Amino acid sequence: MNNSSDPGEYWQNRLAANYSLDGTGFQTLGKQYNRWMYRIRNVIVKRVIQRMESDLNGKEVFDIGSGTGFYIDMWIELGASGVRGSDITDVAVMNLRQKYPSNQFFKLDIGQDELPDQLTARKFDIISAFDVLFHITDDVRYQNAISNVNHLLRKDGIFVFSENFLHHDALRSPHQVSRQLVLIERILQENGFKILERIPMFVIMNAPVDTNNRILQSTWKLIKSTAKKGKFASNVTGCILYPLELILTSIAKEGPSTELMICKKLQECS
Ligand SMILES: C[S@@+](CC[C@H](N)C(=O)[O-])C[C@H]1O[C@@H](n2cnc3c(N)ncnc32)[C@H](O)[C@@H]1O
Repeated sequence: MNNSSDPGEYWQNRLAANYSLDGTGFQTLGKQYNRWMYRIRNVIVKRVIQRMESDLNGKEVFDIGSGTGFYIDMWIELGASGVRGSDITDVAVMNLRQKYPSNQFFKLDIGQDELPDQLTARKFDIISAFDVLFHITDDVRYQNAISNVNHLLRKDGIFVFSENFLHHDALRSPHQVSRQLVLIERILQENGFKILERIPMFVIMNAPVDTNNRILQSTWKLIKSTAKKGKFASNVTGCILYPLELILTSIAKEGPSTELMICKKLQECS
């Protein structure tokens, strides 16, 4: 199913108007709340990466949908030897090239049929795509994206990405599709991946799209309406929820919102 307009144009306009962590994040909740959300992401992603790959020295990383470069900073900080990024928009690629002159950035729509010539012969040890794949609204392009990731990874390479992994039917909106966990698992398996782990990225600090739990839904409504009340409220809401979220994400096995999945490439796909 395809309910997309032009994803490149949508993101180009959005990031050209607001090239910041709330431009790439949950726009209506304000800069301050978004900073707290990104702090959580930073802790969770690092936690899982360091468990998988304790030493990133010698590892070549490719980040998809790099946006403002939040995860480029993270990979550099974690000590990866080569960090490259990409984005569907000119505005992100141009800014990223200026901000990180020693790193390479590609203009890339990961959902396109075939990889561009500059990338066909490239192989990486780790590929990341944080909060990117659920913005591919066309189902064929979603499958292309997973197949392209397979082509870009070395055998035994790691693919780490975030998604909403729904236990119920997909939720479709003009610029986001949260797909079913079983469908994503099937596409990954058909494309030669073994799923190693899936963990919650958020429990209460992000929209609980994968639950019918009334308490979680009402809590989220309250959080959203409070964070929207201005800079101070946005900051205080994030600041209060941050330590609680750290505890909840370390305990919960299943999350009601965005989760992180780590896969290993077992085989090359045709
Ligand atoms: C929600 S933002 C996330 C940015 C960054 N990964 C982060 O977490 O801060 C989504 C990013 O993916 C990019 N994007 C959207 N669709 C894409 C596609 N099909 N291929 C590559 N990048 C895409 C957007 O331009 C945007 O920078």
